Amino acid sequence: MDKVQDTIDLLKVYNQDHIIKLLEKVDGEKKQALIEQISSIDFHQLKELYDNTKKEIEIKENKIEPLPYLDKEKLSEEQKEEFQRLGEEVIEKGEYAVVTMAGGQGTRLGHSGPKGTFKLDVYGKGKYLFEILAENLKEANQKYGKVIPWYIMTSKENNDETIEFMEKHNYFGYDKDSVRFFAQSELPLLDVNGKLLIGKDMRIKEASDGNGGTYSSLRASGCLAEMKEKGIKWVFIGGVDNALLKMADTILLGMAIQKKVQIASKSIVKANPHERVGVFAKMNGHPKVIEYSEMPDKMAEEVDSDGELKYGEAHIMCNLYTIEAIEKISKETLIYHSAFKKNSYIDENGKEVIPTEPNSYKFESFIFDAFELFDDIAILRGKREDDFAPVKNRDGVDSPKTAKELYEKFWNRN
Ligand code: UD1
Repeated sequence: MDKVQDTIDLLKVYNQDHIIKLLEKVDGEKKQALIEQISSIDFHQLKELYDNTKKEIEIKENKIEPLPYLDKEKLSEEQKEEFQRLGEEVIEKGEYAVVTMAGGQGTRLGHSGPKGTFKLDVYGKGKYLFEILAENLKEANQKYGKVIPWYIMTSKENNDETIEFMEKHNYFGYDKDSVRFFAQSELPLLDVNGKLLIGKDMRIKEASDGNGGTYSSLRASGCLAEMKEKGIKWVFIGGVDNALLKMADTILLGMAIQKKVQIASKSIVKANPHERVGVFAKMNGHPKVIEYSEMPDKMAEEVDSDGELKYGEAHIMCNLYTIEAIEKISKETLIYHSAFKKNSYIDENGKEVIPTEPNSYKFESFIFDAFELFDDIAILRGKREDDFAPVKNRDGVDSPKTAKELYEKFWNRN
């Protein structure tokens, strides 16, 4: 009884009176579940996130500089061999693990399931994105004589479907015992007045809190502890939607070891000033990725004395960390970015409203915002044709069609 009253009091403090009305409408298990959901929400944090949507994003250009990188193509043979040797040693000793972020839905792609279950039309028969990743890891396992532990981050929404899919396809021949799934956390959606949205199931609407949630979810799920127990020293974190992603690049790994850095990443040259990729930069002396959605046009178009884009090293979601770095980040709170989106909801008359215009904020943290916690990062510039075949949009750029072409060209060359 008091719990109900406490919940009502809390909702009053945070101006969520419509949820009080909802509480009155439901009973039994539904009511219990709703109370539990409300008690899991950090209203103070939500209020801050909402207040932040009113503030302009500020990029202090004067404190931003380009970040140095090593070009893989220009490494000497000795350098390459040294990096490779250092990297191979780590994998051979079983000190390397891989994380795939597969929490996103393929909305832009128009695919209804988890993105990794999208089939790319390659070589007639086609291959699922998860299959392509499994093949990349199996190749490394064979080369280095070790099975690399593979952690797959799902969302609450797509977790069961992802596991069922992998089971059905027998993990594409990957050692099942070396694959572990963990779900990322969620945050409620807020409308333009800071009110929570109600879903068809009479619960408060929540959505995945962005790929920056990977670190804390690794900790909360026990995966981080498991990695430490296994003696893992280096962790690769990559996306699910790049058909040319190299998850066990020993040159990248060896470079990070030789440079004695805690984090490293592979970049490629940005195709044009407005390509939808984040770019590496140094902000106030710390490594940073400036996301395409937050980059001022002027900065995106700026060129250096050679006529090259000043901020032209694209982040391709190919990131490497020491286990200590993951541990450190997992205890920090990363900043949240808000995206204004269309989300359906139940109005006060119990009717579902499907908006035609964006009506609510989704809050997401970004994986690379953790880079600022470090003094340095080692960047290896790879090559677009070898490293990046993104599957993002239904048509046009970064679509299944462009990814198929890049994938087939790569494998015809190699
Ligand atoms: C992302 C990068 C961008 C980079 C580009 C390269 C971010 C915020 N941006 O942009 O800097 O240049 O990829 O392709 O990372 N995901 C989750 N949970 C979430 C949201 C996303 O696991 O809550 C996963 C997706 O499944 C996917 C990856 O993160 O594997 C990228 O997500 P997406 O939101 O599509 O990022 P982009 O806008 O493509």
